[in-house]
Amino acid sequence: MPQSKLPIVVLISGSGSNLQAIIDATARGLPVEIRAVISNRADARGLQHATDADIATEVLDHKAFTSREDYDRALMALIDRFEPELLVLAGFMRLLTDAFTTHYAGRMLNIHPSLLPNFKGLHTHRRAIEENAAEHGTSVHFVTAELDGGPVVLQIRVPVHAGDSPEQLAARVLEQEHRIYPEAIRWFAEGRLRLDKDGRAELDGKPLRQPVTLDSADKP
Ligand code: GAR
Repeated sequence: MPQSKLPIVVLISGSGSNLQAIIDATARGLPVEIRAVISNRADARGLQHATDADIATEVLDHKAFTSREDYDRALMALIDRFEPELLVLAGFMRLLTDAFTTHYAGRMLNIHPSLLPNFKGLHTHRRAIEENAAEHGTSVHFVTAELDGGPVVLQIRVPVHAGDSPEQLAARVLEQEHRIYPEAIRWFAEGRLRLDKDGRAELDGKPLRQPVTLDSADKP
């Protein structure tokens, strides 16, 4: 019997390469149904990836709202029309209100381009190079009220090479984001990953004391 698919909504702001990786993974059996892709920017290139895959798109421009609270309220109403069981942030470059993170607690994942808790916030690649980090990477985490601070479930290490530009490092990291984000979403869709009542991530019924950490040299 075919496995039922988890309804998800994906939020983007930019190029949408992680969105494309998720779309590609659905074609290979990732058991999710992408009900909509929503962007806060009309010019987000990722919207075209959704259209090309016959996925509904919506734009909710933050500039049309006077407060963060009003925007997030309207965004929640829009998202909830699609009745997702998981909200996937894929390069959605907005700070979220507490009302928003509370509403989607335990059912919202984000991918961040660093080995969290290192380098929260912006310009992670440049900062890793400036601090002479030997390795960098990317993390998938549950979203909580703390910026880039929710429980990390899966991360992957990427080497920093001598002379790397932030763009070179970003490209090396992004390739690995495309590997791990569909994988973490699969765990959630298969009911293996959840947030427990104390706000800790649980995988296969056991608390995840440390995120699952891969190395970019590991075989997929
Ligand atoms: C990705 O590198 C993602 O990790 C990052 O934005 C990029 C989006 O790329 N997200 C954040 O920095 C969130 N704090 P994409 O639009 O090509 O998927």
